[in-house]
Amino acid sequence: MDATRLCFLLFCLFLTSVSSLRKLNNIQDLKNITYAKSAPRHGLQLLFWFAQKVVNVDQNILILDSNFDPSRGDFGFHHYGNREDILPSLSSWQSYYSVGNLKSSGANALPAYVRKYYRNTNVPERNMDRLIISVKLNKPNKILSMFITAYDLQKNDFNPADTYEIDPALLLQIGEPYNCTVDKSNISGIYTISRNIKDTEYDRCLQFLTETGYSSADCKHSHISQRKKRSPYLQCNAYEGIKLEIKATTEGFSKLLWEVPATMMENSKYVYIEICQNTRSSETNEVHTQVRSKLNIYELSGAIDTSVSMTAGLQPRLRLYPSLFDFQFTNPYIWYGPEFDGANGVIPIKVEGFDASLQLYAEDGKACARLYIKKTFSNWQSVFYYSWVGFYKSSQDKNDDYSTYQYANRFTKIDNYITHNYDIYQYNSSLAIAPGVQIRFLLDKKYGKVLAQTTPWEGVEAMTILSSDCGTPGQSLQPKISSNVPVYFYGPEYNDVGLQLYTEDGKACARLYIKKTFTDWKDTFYYSWVGFYTSSQDKHADYYTYNYAVKFEKMETGNENYDIYQYKSKLAIAPGVQIRLLKDKSTDYVFVTTGPWKND
Ligand SMILES: *[C@@H]1O[C@H](CO)[C@@H](O)[C@H](O)[C@H]1NC(C)=O
Ligand SMILES: *[C@@H]1O[C@H](CO)[C@@H](O)[C@H](O)[C@H]1NC(C)=O
Ligand SMILES: *[C@@H]1O[C@H](CO)[C@@H](O)[C@H](O)[C@H]1NC(C)=O
Ligand SMILES: *[C@@H]1O[C@H](CO)[C@@H](O)[C@H](O)[C@H]1NC(C)=O
Repeated sequence: MDATRLCFLLFCLFLTSVSSLRKLNNIQDLKNITYAKSAPRHGLQLLFWFAQKVVNVDQNILILDSNFDPSRGDFGFHHYGNREDILPSLSSWQSYYSVGNLKSSGANALPAYVRKYYRNTNVPERNMDRLIISVKLNKPNKILSMFITAYDLQKNDFNPADTYEIDPALLLQIGEPYNCTVDKSNISGIYTISRNIKDTEYDRCLQFLTETGYSSADCKHSHISQRKKRSPYLQCNAYEGIKLEIKATTEGFSKLLWEVPATMMENSKYVYIEICQNTRSSETNEVHTQVRSKLNIYELSGAIDTSVSMTAGLQPRLRLYPSLFDFQFTNPYIWYGPEFDGANGVIPIKVEGFDASLQLYAEDGKACARLYIKKTFSNWQSVFYYSWVGFYKSSQDKNDDYSTYQYANRFTKIDNYITHNYDIYQYNSSLAIAPGVQIRFLLDKKYGKVLAQTTPWEGVEAMTILSSDCGTPGQSLQPKISSNVPVYFYGPEYNDVGLQLYTEDGKACARLYIKKTFTDWKDTFYYSWVGFYTSSQDKHADYYTYNYAVKFEKMETGNENYDIYQYKSKLAIAPGVQIRLLKDKSTDYVFVTTGPWKND
């Protein structure tokens, strides 16, 4: 056979292997396959979790929180080279990332329902499933395609027969239809989607597993106990009733919350919960751990404040002894609760405009800040020379009302096993970690330029997305938009002025956000005007229409800090429409330009 024919044959083989990938379009398809259908497999849990992360869909592309970056190692995502060629090949500006290896350190940020069986079994099936996504390298929160797959445990390779493409429609079906709370008077331009609290997500995952035919009953449990006597609890389905959780008190110590099913309590003579410190993350065994606190439990559920400081690696372990005999002579039945990951599973928040991000972290009971700096951002120390991170007891605190702070370039570089693309710098503050604590990244010594602020610690999880990403996928696959995010600019004699492109009745409107403290803005902007352009390519003088800033109409909805002024133009809103604020009649000084209107 000559080389060309061989190549052709190989090519055909390649096509067959790739095109033989089955695509799952809806939950019915998912029910009809055998993939990861019983404990301790975690593929379906991964799929459910990922569906919760989707905030929108735009022309069949799933969109995640704009802070999401798999190349930073979020949730344990890491680059996948498609070595086995089980997936279609990608262009050079795209990349595959895989998640679900529960051994990797970043995977500790995955929710308890994904990690439950991993913690409580030690058979290889507990870590064989993966979820793989492809993204554009410059838009890592837009998911181009998605797959579920599993290792072939004999060959240590992904198994093509256990690999499926996931249609975006399936993911939307799994994720509950979400709901954008767009507060139109909200100056921050931050739009949030409130998700249900962790508990309901946990329960909804159980429902989803039941619906897809997942069975936890035949869970293989190789317990370390050498004793042969099986206690009545050694059934994996008994897991379902147990809940253990560690949360921060207001002083940085850990609070233990538990729930144990009544039958388990009744059948046990002694019940303890230990708070352990795992010294090697993701290893749940008795070797790499240290018991920090041991609590006798008499009630089915409750909460206890302990004296153990909140720190990554803390894990509650439930120990049940059926009788006095067991207590003295056998190993107890142990159920391992979720390990605290240090950040409550919250990914870093973008520092606006820079290849850097900020994360609130707990270490030894204190609030710590982690700065992720992309390695390509090599001059960050000079760019952030005056930048600092403020620590606040509450998100309500004003920017100058910080409890403590540190300059970004005084942070200490830490060892990092999570990502190759970023360096991580940390600062341990003296502020106790507690519900409500927030950190903010400020560009310079003035208090106005907040480039990032974290979700308050243990706050209701809300995702920050761009308004143009808002929509209701359950109703239509096309997002609806009402406005673009205001663009802010700063200058020596004015601070914090925002310009926003907005639409009302199909017309382009401009909104100016003026800080209330900027009382003489009308003098400063006396000659300034906002031009409306049909395209960002238009020259400044080629506006479609314009109006002077001082002629804008003050709106009733303002907020505590800002007044809002609006002008409704006659220009019909359309993709590409842009507005600009110019200093005066000469058209060579532009204060700020909005992004062109997106989507329609
Ligand atoms: C279920 O899968 C089998 C093959 O595995 C296929 O023949 C059948 O059509 C599928 N049923 C549905 C309802 O998709
Ligand atoms: C959106 O959320 C609100 C309150 O959370 C709820 O009352 C409403 O029914 C939701 N709308 C949709 C379409 O889900
Ligand atoms: C904007 O909305 C967010 C989320 O709803 C809220 O936390 C914040 O306080 C609001 N900001 C202002 C200035 O109203
Ligand atoms: C922060 O605190 C932890 C625990 O006390 C310590 O191990 C670590 O070295 C500190 N890190 C920095 C950057 O100071």
